[in-house]
Amino acid sequence: MSAISLPKLSAITSSPVGAEVLSGLTAHPKTLSPWLFYDEAGSRLFEAITELPEYYVTRTERSILTKHADEIIAAAAGGRDLSMIELGAGTATKTGLLLEAAIRLQGSVTYYPIDVSETALQEARTRLEVQLPEVTVEPVVADYTDGMRQNKGASGFGAGRRLVLYIGSSIGNFSPADALDVLRSVRSQLLPGDCLLLGTDMVKDTPLLLAAYDDAAGVTAEFNKNVLVRMNRELGANFNPQLFRHRARWNEEHSRIEMHLESLLAQRVPIGALDLEVRFALGETIHTENSYKFTDQRVLALLTRAGFKLRRQWSDANSWFTVYLASAN
Ligand code: AVI
Repeated sequence: MSAISLPKLSAITSSPVGAEVLSGLTAHPKTLSPWLFYDEAGSRLFEAITELPEYYVTRTERSILTKHADEIIAAAAGGRDLSMIELGAGTATKTGLLLEAAIRLQGSVTYYPIDVSETALQEARTRLEVQLPEVTVEPVVADYTDGMRQNKGASGFGAGRRLVLYIGSSIGNFSPADALDVLRSVRSQLLPGDCLLLGTDMVKDTPLLLAAYDDAAGVTAEFNKNVLVRMNRELGANFNPQLFRHRARWNEEHSRIEMHLESLLAQRVPIGALDLEVRFALGETIHTENSYKFTDQRVLALLTRAGFKLRRQWSDANSWFTVYLASAN
């Protein structure tokens, strides 16, 4: 009789961060998933990015929402009582514009922000309760596709019509296949006539895109390198952030901005908790993020394949950003 001894998986390699780093840094080419950016420091750095002069994304979308909030809400409600669900709500800073429009239309509104960060949701709730007492905030702490499934299903989130907000071009951080899965999963939790408001960043001149992801003040570089700091802290790694350079590249073929961390020399970096030593050649990169840029045609195809029908769309004067309202078939 022979005893089979299985390797013991340590708690760290089965933790989401450990598992992601282990598979990403032993792959060729090396990659890390962008969700690793968003620890406390990374979330703060992202907030700072949204205010940078080069990062037109947030202020352009906000200008569209400011101008068209009443039309958007009226079109989504279609004469019925509307409740709002937000995927990856964070601190819900842009949502106020749409909530105010819903209050103007129907007097009050129930708002379900879904986010993995409980702190961000608490902050959103506290602020909204003071600023907009007509809003009933029902936070859902979850990954957003799970959040819709686990919490309410198709009959939940209020009795009337539902409007799901998926703004900020967050969909652009998924591969086309994963983006389709996310939208299909959202669709599966909605009833015909419920709506999705999708905000996407559009293809534009390359220098504008590159500047938005490689700002002069170096905030995006710090955001990118924060992933190294996080591995040092959480996994006992020994990355020296000064030995890596932040890189932003436009990938024309895939219509995406890529962020990489480029090794400035040949080096070996131990990651204590994973019992791993990672080797880097001079110039080798870790691919840390894709940010897809869209055309109307691509968004339309995505919505249609996910089971939505495009109803209206709004852009800024430069057509840099578009907000699409689609209804579930
Ligand atoms: C969150 N997401 C939509 C941002 C983007 O533009 O892709 C993340 C980001 N990465 C670098 N700057 C901002």
